[in-house]
Amino acid sequence: MAVTRFFLPTEIVAGAGSFAQLGKLVQPLGRRALVVGSPGRRGLLEMATANLAAAGVEAGLYAGVGHEPTLDVVETARAQAREMGAEVVIGIGGGSAMDAAKAAAGLYHQPGTVAEYHTGRKLDPRPGLPLVCVPTTAGTGAEVTKNAVLIDPARRIKESIRDDSWFARLAVLDPELTLSLPAAMTASTGADALCQAIESYVSIGAGPVSDPLAAEAVRLIGRSLERAVTRGDDLAARSDMLYGSLLAGMAMTNARLGAVHGLAHPLGARYHIAHGVLCGLLLPTVMDYNIDYATDRYARVAELLGLDVRGLGAKEAGQRGAAWVRELLARIGIPMQLGPLGVKEADFDGIIAESLQQSSLKHNPRPMQAEDVRAVLVQAL
Ligand SMILES: [Fe+2]
Repeated sequence: MAVTRFFLPTEIVAGAGSFAQLGKLVQPLGRRALVVGSPGRRGLLEMATANLAAAGVEAGLYAGVGHEPTLDVVETARAQAREMGAEVVIGIGGGSAMDAAKAAAGLYHQPGTVAEYHTGRKLDPRPGLPLVCVPTTAGTGAEVTKNAVLIDPARRIKESIRDDSWFARLAVLDPELTLSLPAAMTASTGADALCQAIESYVSIGAGPVSDPLAAEAVRLIGRSLERAVTRGDDLAARSDMLYGSLLAGMAMTNARLGAVHGLAHPLGARYHIAHGVLCGLLLPTVMDYNIDYATDRYARVAELLGLDVRGLGAKEAGQRGAAWVRELLARIGIPMQLGPLGVKEADFDGIIAESLQQSSLKHNPRPMQAEDVRAVLVQAL
């Protein structure tokens, strides 16, 4: 058996109503906290600072995270944390808010600029501030991953900074916070979660510890994604989605991902298409492309999605699963072609070169050379 590693030092507090315990949970971690989030969730962020204050935690607020976590945003959040002498950083929101908070906390004591670490400068061994994550989307699983995906708009590069010390100390998952997420955002973030669950299940880095997490994520997301989109107030569906994205995050940070994510980062940075949209768009095409290289795994994915595949061969079952995923994602409004989103065949060489550098691509079950990446792009165009 191959030697695998699984590491997750994050305390997870989950369930409806858990957000109300935030102050009490953060209090042992520090007396001064910087809350990081986006302007659209200011009301929720202010509820958090009030809750912290009631527990004796002095809280500052940085509500400047946009749709993507840029280097500037992290630089500003880090400066604000330093200025107030923060002892803990709390990211509240989707992946962008959590990743911005994660990088601001992780780089708190590091001497260089954020841009230097984004271009490969090594981190000093000194850990940053403790991080707390409160997801308000069921998508990225950033509350249990050690990397922050940051965008450098000047270089049009989307790249992670990662370190074992960057895992959140605490994740608070309250499905009630996701009830108000609009249908389109529920669909795109949920498509990312479904993709992460499936990619980590078929990854060449998958193993006996990550497998049950990824499998349960596929099952929960498969049964509840459409319901969460069409009936946003269904707490049971929202709960399934939040647990599903959590479990997928736990699996993928250890097992890693695959070709969808290897392509999503270069495409996202170049065309400013939402990450979840790209993941959903590419997922069924990549499933079909991979099927001969992880046939039994894809057959199991089809079962986990709730399909009746009795009597089918493994390959046929896997193909049935890919077709079902394509139909599901189309039904919830995920576009299924890249061309209408502005992607140009003339850019393929650059996209391929960037995707070949992505570690996700190297964990795809089917080995991906330049011609393989091109084949997927042509298929999805
Ligand atoms: Fe993702």
